[in-house]
Amino acid sequence: MTRYSIAVIPGDGVGMEVVPEGLAAIRRAAEVTGSYSIQTREFPWSCQYYLETGRMMPDDGIDQLSDADAVFLGAVGFPGVADHVSLWGLLLPIRQSFDQYVNLRPIEVLDGIASPLRDKGRAEIDILCIRENTEGEYAGLGGRFHVGRPEESAVQTAMFTRRGVERIARYAFERARERKGRLASATKSNALQYTAVMWDEIVAEVGRDYPDVEVTNYHVDALAARFVTAPESLDVVVGSNLFGDILTDLGGALQGSLGLPASANLNPERRYPSMFEPVHGSAPRRAGQGVANPMAAVWAASLMLDHLGERDAARLVMDGLRHVALHGPRTRDLGGTATTAELGAAIVSSIGAFPEVVSGS
Ligand code: NAI
Ligand code: MG
Repeated sequence: MTRYSIAVIPGDGVGMEVVPEGLAAIRRAAEVTGSYSIQTREFPWSCQYYLETGRMMPDDGIDQLSDADAVFLGAVGFPGVADHVSLWGLLLPIRQSFDQYVNLRPIEVLDGIASPLRDKGRAEIDILCIRENTEGEYAGLGGRFHVGRPEESAVQTAMFTRRGVERIARYAFERARERKGRLASATKSNALQYTAVMWDEIVAEVGRDYPDVEVTNYHVDALAARFVTAPESLDVVVGSNLFGDILTDLGGALQGSLGLPASANLNPERRYPSMFEPVHGSAPRRAGQGVANPMAAVWAASLMLDHLGERDAARLVMDGLRHVALHGPRTRDLGGTATTAELGAAIVSSIGAFPEVVSGS
């Protein structure tokens, strides 16, 4: 039996409420498969921690996480601490230090939960979004000058490296090859004549190694429209850090609630731990009431199990999630009255209980 050590950062707001439900699903799947056990170590790093210590995590925070097999995160950010402080103090350093250059977000409508797109369901909306996660527009390069004066100015530079674009493109081609063999690349090479043109050239070069994958470049604005008008034409989508960030929230909205989409921050070479989290934030107005939807955290748990190599457990967790999506109960965001804990318990009791009812894809 394999034993995994998981670093858990519940974070802020509803992050703290949904994380236990994700972990409960992982533990239940371990009981059913009997193939692994988990040992968790919890870190209190959050905006609350910042207010007490002046930092989002300690100086050696990255070192403390580095022995873990994976990091499971709720959400960070809360009123009282500026969002750029919480993001740059915790999340972005983890993604960059652990070279988690792939941000993977499956966009899939679950049977039983309506997409806001009329007449589009699971058959039409099944997109794997792959976002570059370590450079591009979020490289953090720039500065503010003459702050508060009439000549005040700000510069924020996007940095794209050949190595960075090549590896995310290659990852995307690999995933497209395993799916329907179609890759959409988000670009804006009409306006961004340096970075986006280089991006397109490198995607085309890498594509020569994948003659079986059909690659199409879309300007990101047109691609955003396509997510709404023709999602069935999309299989795998690859984009830069900023483009991917925007497109994946749009994709998440197509799933019917922000309480659903999950994301994996992957270091595919496994030199460092990868990190798994719901796409949603800390939802401060919903926090503290026990009504947050834990489905995104459970989905993130499934992505984590998949990455750890526990394929059967990952599928069991997704099947449990699909069962509850179809039969209820529902949290408030989906029109129901169930609490976070009730929904979590319903998923846990579905794991391994209905193997023949729903099948994962
Ligand atoms: P948000 O995702 O927290 O909330 C957006 C909307 O979705 C709200 O209406 C919220 O109530 C709803 N929602 C979110 N999660 C839900 C859940 N599990 N169940 C039901 N409804 C849910 O995004 P917002 O409001 O832009 O940001 C709030 C804070 O979270 C900010 O401080 C922001 O920086 C942070 N944030 C953190 C992220 C992370 O840690 N990865 C990602 C996004 C935002
Ligand atoms: Mg986002």
